[in-house]
Amino acid sequence: MKPIKKAVFPVAGMGTRFLPATKANPKEMLPVVDKPLIQYAAEEAVAAGIDTLIFVTGRNKRSIEDHFDTAYELERELEERNKEKMLRIVREILPPEANCVFIRQSEALGLGHAVLCAKPVVGDEPFAVLLADDLIASTQKPVLSQMVDIYNYQQCSVLGVQEVPMEEVHQYGVVDAAASGERTYEVSGMVEKPAQADAPSNLAVVGRYILTPRLFELLETQERGAGNEIQLTDAIARLLGSQRVLAYNFDGKRFDCGSKLGYLQAQVEFALEHEEVGEEFREYLERLKLSSVENLKFATG
Ligand code: UTP
Repeated sequence: MKPIKKAVFPVAGMGTRFLPATKANPKEMLPVVDKPLIQYAAEEAVAAGIDTLIFVTGRNKRSIEDHFDTAYELERELEERNKEKMLRIVREILPPEANCVFIRQSEALGLGHAVLCAKPVVGDEPFAVLLADDLIASTQKPVLSQMVDIYNYQQCSVLGVQEVPMEEVHQYGVVDAAASGERTYEVSGMVEKPAQADAPSNLAVVGRYILTPRLFELLETQERGAGNEIQLTDAIARLLGSQRVLAYNFDGKRFDCGSKLGYLQAQVEFALEHEEVGEEFREYLERLKLSSVENLKFATG
């Protein structure tokens, strides 16, 4: 099979849980400390050998396109002011050999539909899908690189999974799977947002996929499922009828930045690790007494 060179970033969701912040901006542009979520995902993809980044965008696509485009005026101003470090940060958002392609999902019909929109660019090749609102920190290899290693060895679709509490399985795509290695499982079934009593396991798919192009054919005929959306999970469940699919319990800490709590946790943990502000932020947190915060009344309108 061909190597994984293309990655799809579905960024056309409504992001209702973050309104009003997502009224005019996609949630994938929300920053964690100083980088938007989408940049973390793009960097993870490039580190895994991806050379073509395909963004499936919705109505608020401008800021994502601008973020990955050259910013001539800003660069000139930074140059004139001798802000070398900032200039490098702005210029090196992606390496020059990376290609960005933008595709419009005209209607938010679901994640499966968003992935299908990328078919004309992906073509007949295996590809990765990254959901940028699942921010994954790893101390070793970035998660997509771990999954590409598995794909290169096993030559089949690979789903990034993590164990979640049973009370939370209804929020995820959940796999029915039998352990086949230290961190790998042979998938025999998959269900989107099951009730706790119906969940085949507590192994939930979290925002990282390596998929074969056969999936596109199945997405083309995929009927609407949970939430009346065209679900990627349902098409992968059908893929199991003809191809092997592995689940991989990756090594990394995942933050659900699609939810307010997960996003706030990511802010705190990434800030603590940040080379510029980490130490001071740690001191600040140590000084901060919850009792004094409870008395604060922010006048934010
Ligand atoms: P979510 O289920 O998190 O939905 O989408 P959402 O609309 O983004 O957010 P909420 O629930 O309203 O707050 C999972 C991923 O699939 C993308 C989203 O951008 C996100 O990365 N997506 C979802 C699309 O690109 N298109 C869709 O039609 C639906």
